[in-house]
Amino acid sequence: MADNFDVVVIGGGPGGYIAAIRAAQLGLSTACIDDGARPDGKPAPGGTCTNVGCIPSKALLQSSENFEHAGHAFADHGIGVSGLTIDVARMLARKDRVVRQNNDGILYLFKKNKIAFFHGRGSFAGRDGERWKVTVVGPGAASLTAHHVIVATGSTPRALPGAPFDGQRVLDNAGALAIPEVPKRLGVVGAGVIGLEMGSVWRRLGAEVTILEALPALLPAADEAIAREAQKAFGKQGLAMHFGVAIGAVRVDKDRVDVDYKDASGAGQSASFDRLIVSIGRLPTTAGLNGQAVGLKLDARGFVEVDADCRTGLPGVWAIGDVVRGPMLAHKAEEEGVAVAERIAGEHGHVDFNTVPWVIYTSPEIAWVGQTEQQLKAAGIAYRAGSFPFSANGRARALGDTTGFVKILADAATDRILGMHVIGPMASELIAEGVVAMEFGAASEDLARICHAHPSLSEATKEAALAVDKRTLNL
Ligand code: FAD
Ligand code: NAI
Repeated sequence: MADNFDVVVIGGGPGGYIAAIRAAQLGLSTACIDDGARPDGKPAPGGTCTNVGCIPSKALLQSSENFEHAGHAFADHGIGVSGLTIDVARMLARKDRVVRQNNDGILYLFKKNKIAFFHGRGSFAGRDGERWKVTVVGPGAASLTAHHVIVATGSTPRALPGAPFDGQRVLDNAGALAIPEVPKRLGVVGAGVIGLEMGSVWRRLGAEVTILEALPALLPAADEAIAREAQKAFGKQGLAMHFGVAIGAVRVDKDRVDVDYKDASGAGQSASFDRLIVSIGRLPTTAGLNGQAVGLKLDARGFVEVDADCRTGLPGVWAIGDVVRGPMLAHKAEEEGVAVAERIAGEHGHVDFNTVPWVIYTSPEIAWVGQTEQQLKAAGIAYRAGSFPFSANGRARALGDTTGFVKILADAATDRILGMHVIGPMASELIAEGVVAMEFGAASEDLARICHAHPSLSEATKEAALAVDKRTLNL
């Protein structure tokens, strides 16, 4: 006998579990299937984000930042620290605890919202009249039917050709989050978000980090001024970055890994590392779904094909998050999950891709929303720009962290905010003000006229808004 639901969600990452919660809130009988497992075999819902992505990386970024502050920043505050050590096993155990708290939190939310959770792998098993049949294989084996299926199966790391991940020397994101001791020489292929965050973690703990990047410059999607400032800051910290490289052979030995590559001038180079993190992007996960058998269409890059509303070509089948087009970000997956649940319930869910913020949790943090200067120039949109450096912000000086600036871009004619770009302390939190302002169609003048607490980092946002009209008060 099959269990019958209104909605079955395949995948319990931030896209899937949030979609399930919203569907249940709207009164739909809902099931969520997820195959994530802890080492002891118990369910580990939360997907990449909770288990091997957002959450554990931020736990290690915090631990390593604390270590770096104790070693380098505390002295200036008159705080002496002697005999500073790092217990990597304990740091990793703390990270694992943080992950488990999040796994447990999601299981609690399933219960609270009366969502049936099935631990295992879900796949399409054809049609039963108007309903979809979905089979679960694993500890929670079951046969389910539903009017609506939401595919939220996420993504997996892309390997370098000829250098498969081995969990020892050649590491994906999961491996990068679980290195058992600080490597002396750490190689990173790809200066994207994972490369910069994980490279920062291990550099702060003492590794000599070399990043090999195919493109000629850092962070091409960021505003050019932000990318330049980031490259300067990371270089000063000691991250060695080589751009325009072409990776050749990767040779794995018992205790090291050698990488041949051509540098930007085309000259052959070779580098030897204790461990190599490969962070060159991620691929959508559709294996095991049996989607092909029911006609689920993939695009040329292997993503589930969807329209602007996350509808696949199949009636009642939706897809969200990393497995579909758009940025691979947890909050984008969540927004799509909520919107799809609302559409299923007959409401008008909506996701505004122009106000999805990006955050890179390095030090300095980098965050942006909306358009960059180079995008506005390319589109021929007349704009005014205002910037304000943290070096002129009282709170940043008190924190001892004055790197970076806030930049606001506003339409030259209407003054409507078109983009906000931040590099500096707590950029991840500051960017929320830009998102709200853009969602409400605010002008830079609106931000400039809002009373911001003093002293606070957010005053730099207000000053950047004032700078759009060339009337900063503190510069
Ligand atoms: P996922 O989180 O990948 O979840 C999919 C789930 O479905 C997984 O549990 C998978 O095992 C399961 N699954 C797959 N197929 C099946 C099947 N057939 N049956 C049952 N279950 C299945 N994003 C941010 O916004 N902020 C960050 O700080 C951030 N940091 C990151 C750090 C790292 C190291 C990495 C790798 C990613 C990071 N991301 C971050 C990206 C973020 O993790 C993803 O965008 C997000 O997890 C996508 O959510 P999702 O629900 O689409 O997929
Ligand atoms: P990425 O797309 O951010 O960066 C990959 C980098 O590798 C690019 O700079 C690319 O030019 C480079 N590259 C590709 N092939 C290469 C090759 N053969 N040799 C050398 N360099 C090569 O991908 P990444 O870092 O793997 O992360 C995947 C995704 O996960 C991100 O795009 C992001 O969506 C998400 N993520 C988000 C985080 C956040 O929001 N803070 C943190 C970490 C990941």
